[in-house]
Amino acid sequence: ADLSRFIAGLPKAELHLHIEGSLEPELMFALAGRNGLTIPFTSADAVRAAYQFSNLQDFLDIYYQGAAVLVTERDFHDLTVAYFDRAAADGVKHAEIMFDPQTHTARGIAFDTVMRGLLSGMADAKARHGITSCLIMSFLRHLSEEDAFATLEQSRPWLSHITAVGLDSSEVGNPPSRFARVFAAARELGLKLCAHAGEEGPPDYVREALDLLAIDRLDHGNRSLEDPVLTARLAGAGMTLTVCPLSNLKLRVVHAMADHPIDRMLREGLRATVNSDDPAYFGGYVADNYVAVAEARGLGRQELATLARNSFLGSFLPDEAVAAHL
Ligand code: ADE
Ligand code: ZN
Repeated sequence: ADLSRFIAGLPKAELHLHIEGSLEPELMFALAGRNGLTIPFTSADAVRAAYQFSNLQDFLDIYYQGAAVLVTERDFHDLTVAYFDRAAADGVKHAEIMFDPQTHTARGIAFDTVMRGLLSGMADAKARHGITSCLIMSFLRHLSEEDAFATLEQSRPWLSHITAVGLDSSEVGNPPSRFARVFAAARELGLKLCAHAGEEGPPDYVREALDLLAIDRLDHGNRSLEDPVLTARLAGAGMTLTVCPLSNLKLRVVHAMADHPIDRMLREGLRATVNSDDPAYFGGYVADNYVAVAEARGLGRQELATLARNSFLGSFLPDEAVAAHL
């Protein structure tokens, strides 16, 4: 209880949060009802019982299915507000939110509908909780480069509201190299660059994300630790890793929380942060992730404070705003 209180009281930024992954089963049911859609479950508990994953793809299949209840601008607004209400209780002061436009545009939902709903939810969060936020538009790597370029094109009217692009979905078999050109185009447009790499994929994918995408931030990055040269390079470059302990456990990136490498990352000089990834699916929001990994690895207050401090250092906030949070 003492540890939980200390963790909730630590001001923190959340840097790895898929807004579609914050869709709780209760809201999923409410949105399905409101939109006249049927879902293949009889209750919120039945939905939770179906969340048994043995790898990333198992999770992605059910996550994309769940996102299908998001139809109207109000749906995206309500989803976003629900996340921020929960994040506020966890001591989140700033959130950099990923969204997957292709998951929605592929179902005939307009890009503008998604953006309007997310942005109005973010404005509400600022007004209600004082939490600042920005958006990371993530490309689905199981789709083509052409599809990613079309998405970048659709985002043009909204570019002043988008801070970065990301790369997510099925990692193995979809290396960063497939998206080098679209990332270069995003960079030209003034966007920051993130990519999921080294979650299930090998250290080579992390190297590609650095060398071919020129990422500003690395999502997950766990498997970098298999390569000492790469680890030293990430540490030397001051690269931020957005690590997600409960996600790592549920998707079997680690076999037990007691094996989680978060403290090893810090000892290797990596700028590691703690994040929730898809909290509605992995059993916890950001503070739960800090608590779970702190208990399993015996982290002390100093290490926890370092992780929280890293979250601001690794954010895309301007330097003055970072300094104000430290
Ligand atoms: N989409 C949502 N969560 C993800 C994860 N952990 N890895 C890859 N794609 C994702
Ligand atoms: Zn993720």
